[in-house]
Amino acid sequence: MRLVFLGPPGAGKGTQAERLCRDMNWAHVSTGDLLREAVAEASELGLKAVEFMKSGRLVPDDLVVSLVAERLKRDDCTEGFVLDGFPRTVVQAEMLEETLDTLDIRLDRVLYFATDREVIITRLSGRRICRDCGANYHVTNIPPKVEGVCDRCGGELYQRDDDRPETVQKRLVVYEEQTAPLIRFYEERGLLKELSGNLEVEEGQAAIRTALGVPAEREP
Ligand code: AP5
Repeated sequence: MRLVFLGPPGAGKGTQAERLCRDMNWAHVSTGDLLREAVAEASELGLKAVEFMKSGRLVPDDLVVSLVAERLKRDDCTEGFVLDGFPRTVVQAEMLEETLDTLDIRLDRVLYFATDREVIITRLSGRRICRDCGANYHVTNIPPKVEGVCDRCGGELYQRDDDRPETVQKRLVVYEEQTAPLIRFYEERGLLKELSGNLEVEEGQAAIRTALGVPAEREP
């Protein structure tokens, strides 16, 4: 299946996409992760993107679309993929349609995670990420076994720069202005399915699978 996960920051797109893709053997394509990797490597793209990301603004469309177009050509996308955090503007969505046309493939579904503002703020303020493997935790909702240490690899957990309260507010404004219009865009194409982003992780995963008609998780 070829899917888009759409929703505000903190809707749980990354958490649910990672889990679904690991189990279904689909590629999890997160533009946020790809951009953070580029920043960490200080590549040409990373140097261009870093200031936009730090301030909670969107990275220019052409940079992000070419990143995704290259990623979709990799072999691991053949079985299926989830685009997480992309597209984020109507221009990106139109450019994605062109890219998929050239690859002769189509999107199957766009899942939109409608999420309350208080839920978003609580999740983002408590998010912690592993510096080494990128695993995602939450200080109270999904805590690691040992505070500050990754369960999977023992790496150090840190807080993302853009999860500071003032940047979160900016990201929410940017979402409403530039990304929320995609709900209508995909509704008009008959691809949109709305789910709640407020659910617990397990419940949310089950709702996604029911919506897609795929079997229950083998190993939660
Ligand atoms: P990106 O990394 O994509 O950030 P985002 O969309 O703001 O999304 P988040 O990662 O904040 O939220 P999420 O919905 O994935 O939630 P998560 O699962 O992590 O983008 C960062 C920046 O990169 C952008 O601001 C922009 O500058 C740039 N960028 C990226 N894509 C771009 C594009 N296409 N165009 C232009 N610029 C782009 O969960 C959040 C927290 O909640 C975690 O701690 C998690 O453990 C916890 N949690 C998750 N689910 C649950 C649950 N069900 N119950 C309890 N806790 C939960």
